Amino acid sequence: MDKLNITGGQRLQGEVVVSGAKNAALPILCASLLTGDDVRLTNVPQLNDINTLSRLLGQMGVKVAQEGAGTLVLKADALTSCEAPYELVKTMRASILVLGPLVARFGEARVSLPGGCAIGQRPVDQHIKGLAALGADVRVEHGFVVARADRLKGAIVRTDMITVTGTENLLMAAVLAEGETVLDNAAREPEVVDLAEMLIAMGAQIEGHGTDRIVVQGVERLHGVDYRVMADRIEAGTFLCAVGAAGGDAILRAAPPAAMGAVIDKLRRAGVTIDCDGDNIRARMDRRPTAVGFRTQEYPGFATDMQAQLMAMNAVADGTAVITENIFENRFMHVQELIRLGADIAIDGHTAVVKGVPSLSGATVMATDLRASASLVIAGLVADGVTTVERIYHLDRGYECMEHKLQQLGARIERVSDRRSA
Ligand code: EPU
Repeated sequence: MDKLNITGGQRLQGEVVVSGAKNAALPILCASLLTGDDVRLTNVPQLNDINTLSRLLGQMGVKVAQEGAGTLVLKADALTSCEAPYELVKTMRASILVLGPLVARFGEARVSLPGGCAIGQRPVDQHIKGLAALGADVRVEHGFVVARADRLKGAIVRTDMITVTGTENLLMAAVLAEGETVLDNAAREPEVVDLAEMLIAMGAQIEGHGTDRIVVQGVERLHGVDYRVMADRIEAGTFLCAVGAAGGDAILRAAPPAAMGAVIDKLRRAGVTIDCDGDNIRARMDRRPTAVGFRTQEYPGFATDMQAQLMAMNAVADGTAVITENIFENRFMHVQELIRLGADIAIDGHTAVVKGVPSLSGATVMATDLRASASLVIAGLVADGVTTVERIYHLDRGYECMEHKLQQLGARIERVSDRRSA
């Protein structure tokens, strides 16, 4: 298993290019199931999660071809199977995103239930409820969601809570349903908007994406598309937190600043100078950050996917930050590891109280999930001595070449392959 060795204390100086967004690319790849024509996608990040999904689509009979770095061409003209097996779904929950498009276009789907997850229970009941409201016969049998429908019928669907992949699944189902569908209490995340724009480019009729009420007029068929995936606001935000914690002067190219308002606002309050110019973001920091509290919320609030990284910056800030996690029940797994590096953090239920300390001290820590891994890397960049982050396969699921990009910014970070560890 690979690990990262980081020697802290280096200011971050230079430029990096932000990759395509994992959480936009995943539903967009699944949307290729909605047409038999070629779907050509650019700015697809090279990540383990994308490889897993490509494998899943390939197993179903979708032809997936790589056309150089970042470009995939998918063709779902004839499927051999409508099943997403447990072996793949258990490694990546986003596999549930094949459910809506499969039922909408092929009239059937058999998708393994994802099971437990490191950051929370994460049930998929709203995906199931929504699909049933669109007229599918949906059952849970032998650990699988089994859904069938001749043709889905438009309906008013109101989810009990705001769910990102739930909204995406139902949107992909509704575009080929008969008549009008209203998705009420819809997620407003930029990744949902990116998916909707891609579907519109395929001939779908969608209005209201980016609001909590999406209205879809179903069409008989969709056609092929050439589509560029949006930039990754979470990757970009992670680099901004790294600059906030370690200090420096860095420029992010191909970033999506318009989708990053909540994070940019918090970092400015912490003392980071941030200038946005088109898709470039320049971040400058030459002092210890000031502590900034926050609560995670659905978009446009502060993203849960940025909570761990901003906590790492707060760990070395001047003052105390109160951080509340409102989206997932168990997303403080990084706290114990940050404490091993010398952070002063107390958890009370969904709230963490972070008392900033002047410095952290390098140690061996273990990544527990994707964003937790990123927070440990940020902490390692500021800690005295060497920090070793183990189990970075979590990081590789969602960050493209993170260590190379940090090296470009002057960080002392290297990947070590250790085949002896289990
Ligand atoms: N929920 C239910 N029932 C459902 C669906 C959701 O109870 O049927 C609950 C969840 O348990 C959670 C809340 O609703 O408490 C919100 O979950 P949501 O469905 O929005 O999360 P998701 O769609 O499974 C996506 C991202 C996550 C990100 C969340 C929140 C993708 C592939 N994943 O997950 O990204 O944290 O939205 O913004 O888009 C990550 O990239 O590290 C990551 C975990």
